[in-house]
Amino acid sequence: MSESITITDNRTGEAVEIPIVNGGVDAAEWKKLLPGLWFLDPAFGTTASTESAITYLDGANGVLEYRGYPIEQLAEKSSHLEVAYLLLNGELPTAEQHDDWVHEITHHTYLHENFRRHVHDAFHYDAHPMGLLTSSVAGLSTFYPEAKDIEDPSNRMEQIVRLVAKMPTIAAAAYRFSMGLPFVFPRNDLDYTSNFLSMMFSIAEDDYVPDPALKRAMEILFILHADHEQNCSTTAARVVGSSHADPYVSVSAACGALYGPRHGGANEAVLRMLAEIGSYDNVDAYVERVKGGEERLMGFGHRVYKNYDPRARIIKDAAHDVFAVTGKNPLLDIALKLEEVALADPYFVDRKLYPNVDFYSGLIYQSMGFPTEMFTVLFAIPRTVGWLAHWQEMLEQGSRIARPRQVYTGVETRDYTPIESR
Ligand code: CMC
Repeated sequence: MSESITITDNRTGEAVEIPIVNGGVDAAEWKKLLPGLWFLDPAFGTTASTESAITYLDGANGVLEYRGYPIEQLAEKSSHLEVAYLLLNGELPTAEQHDDWVHEITHHTYLHENFRRHVHDAFHYDAHPMGLLTSSVAGLSTFYPEAKDIEDPSNRMEQIVRLVAKMPTIAAAAYRFSMGLPFVFPRNDLDYTSNFLSMMFSIAEDDYVPDPALKRAMEILFILHADHEQNCSTTAARVVGSSHADPYVSVSAACGALYGPRHGGANEAVLRMLAEIGSYDNVDAYVERVKGGEERLMGFGHRVYKNYDPRARIIKDAAHDVFAVTGKNPLLDIALKLEEVALADPYFVDRKLYPNVDFYSGLIYQSMGFPTEMFTVLFAIPRTVGWLAHWQEMLEQGSRIARPRQVYTGVETRDYTPIESR
């Protein structure tokens, strides 16, 4: 049996045979036979926008791997910065490479003072931290104009280090600003996640160290969120980056895409939904409203996972370790019942709707003391690594500018009518 497909143009009888390679067929071959005839695929449901060697997803079987390593093993054994190195460089670091990488990140965490003041002064006191983060990351572009030289790999890596290092600092600054609390400077004696928690939560302590169980949970959540191949925000970063815009504005575009409730904003929406449901007894009625099309069950469903989201399973386990320290989140019982009811209901079963990464993460974040508005920011910090890994891969591939076509359905050519005659 030939690993190929044959397409015949019934208007002319001409045919083209296209080989199937790595589970895909090359649209350039289609274009040779049928120039000007477009595939209509509005939400990219059947379009692979690129080849990529970074992350592997098997939605039918609930598999997620970074550079070939199963997510379960990385979540159990690795750290976020080690995973970041892996995603960006293709291999796990040696001990020496690891130390150099951690040193580099640790020594790029500070923000230029003018920039830090901009974070504090330019926004209203109740600014949503995702709006603040999105515009701040774009603002970084003006501080590092050399970032425009996207052709130089070492210059690219310098900007990657800056972005990975500074995202937690910007995020914590946004939080402290919203709380009216003074900014806490980064500390070089702490690892990446501990330093982030210190910048978030320490008050008048020189020696703040987070609870080890909470620190580990943060590390796991960062690892799980580090990449997820060509999702909405990564695609946004790649599309903007394909015009050869600098990495700061490309990552800012990705932040904007992540902000929406169908993507990274879902973790925030889950908590609002659980609070709206309010009690265990109201779950059944809420599920009926979802089935009636009045609501969406936030934290449920995924474009790719049609069996289960492996990240949700790991997060559910991590939640118990967190609650052992913080006490059980009172919304957990509602979430568990919602999951139980939904998984037994044909509406959700038939549509293959399962809990996704966002269903339980918000409960952990809330128990750790993060306000709901910060949840999507907590997604953006680790995902910055994935955005940049794909941005870098795209430039290494020498890609063309992203420019889809459309199928025009408007009116045919007509003459301009003067306003008095309309
Ligand atoms: N609650 C109720 N019904 C749903 C849901 C949901 N959460 N998700 C999908 N459906 C239904 C939808 O109404 C449709 O039904 P029908 O065939 O009768 O019209 C069917 O399932 C297919 O939905 P879809 O909108 O075509 O699916 P999609 O692949 O375009 O959307 C999704 C995927 C994640 C945007 C969607 O499932 C959703 O909105 N979920 C809630 C938001 C959420 O949790 N997002 C986080 C995703 S994971 C992390 C991330 O990417 O950031």
